[in-house]
Amino acid sequence: MTDLDKKTTHDAEHDPRNDEILIYVNGELKPKAEAVVSVYDSGFMLGDGMWEGMRLYNGKWAFFDEHMDRLFNSLKAVSIDLGIGPDDILEILDKTARANGMTTDAHCRLMITRGRKAKPFQHPGLSRWGASIVAIIEHSKPVDRLHSAGIRLATVPQVRGLPMSQDAKFNSHSKLNCVIACLQAEQAGADEGLMLDPHGFVNTTNACNFFIVRRGEVWTSTGDYCMNGVTRQKVIDLCRDNGIPVFEKNYSLYEAYGADEAFLTGTFGAQTPVAEIDGKPIGSGDRPITRRIRDLYKELVARNTAA
Ligand SMILES: Cc1ncc(COP(=O)(O)O)c(C=O)c1O
Repeated sequence: MTDLDKKTTHDAEHDPRNDEILIYVNGELKPKAEAVVSVYDSGFMLGDGMWEGMRLYNGKWAFFDEHMDRLFNSLKAVSIDLGIGPDDILEILDKTARANGMTTDAHCRLMITRGRKAKPFQHPGLSRWGASIVAIIEHSKPVDRLHSAGIRLATVPQVRGLPMSQDAKFNSHSKLNCVIACLQAEQAGADEGLMLDPHGFVNTTNACNFFIVRRGEVWTSTGDYCMNGVTRQKVIDLCRDNGIPVFEKNYSLYEAYGADEAFLTGTFGAQTPVAEIDGKPIGSGDRPITRRIRDLYKELVARNTAA
């Protein structure tokens, strides 16, 4: 495989404007080369922070309330007191997008950490100066070729753990669990890793949620061991509202290999079809249900971000 064949669910069309963007860092808008945080920052030092990925369409952040719900729930769970609320976050994002002249087809990575530490050690109390807030917003159009060719998955040894170790619902700065899974998939010649849960049921991929389609039904994992993806929930709701049978259930690789269609979900790429798992082609390559869900999702985003 050459580098040209490699695909990820986060491939975007090259946009030279992204070299010139302004990035929000703790109250200031900084040119990309000057947008830095301290080497003492808890996010850099320990992966001690939470982030959200969001998309801008028509001047509006799609599903903003859902993203804020997840973010503030996570921050509360790890006792990071931001001192500001969702409305203030919206102001930060809008101000940054405006400064960059962006109204649509932009993607934001909003990052919140426990902040700068007094000493290079783990104790959370060493972060004495309040949370760090960074928003990187880039011009971003996912590449089309992913939607025709589909992505190749490899099942990897790295699993998603039980919630009492590091709950998979934390969109934490530390993504080492996922990064290891991604490396294992790459080493197996695939694009992304398909991760099982501790019982061996199919769970999620290293960067997206995972769905299969079998005999007209849409299946995804129970949700117990994966990110509570905003796109995942939207797909489940769309199926329910449009008469497509959908089930959150345990299933094994046996059923995944034999699926008629499979797709991934995430804010960045919406729904990305899966071409093969562990070298086995999925279905015939015709993907009517994935296409239908994709169309329904597009309409939902348009309604959600309408003026
Ligand atoms: C591991 C993982 N799974 C799934 C998702 C997709 O979540 P969402 O649909 O909210 O973008 C993400 C995105 O942050 C993720 O990091």
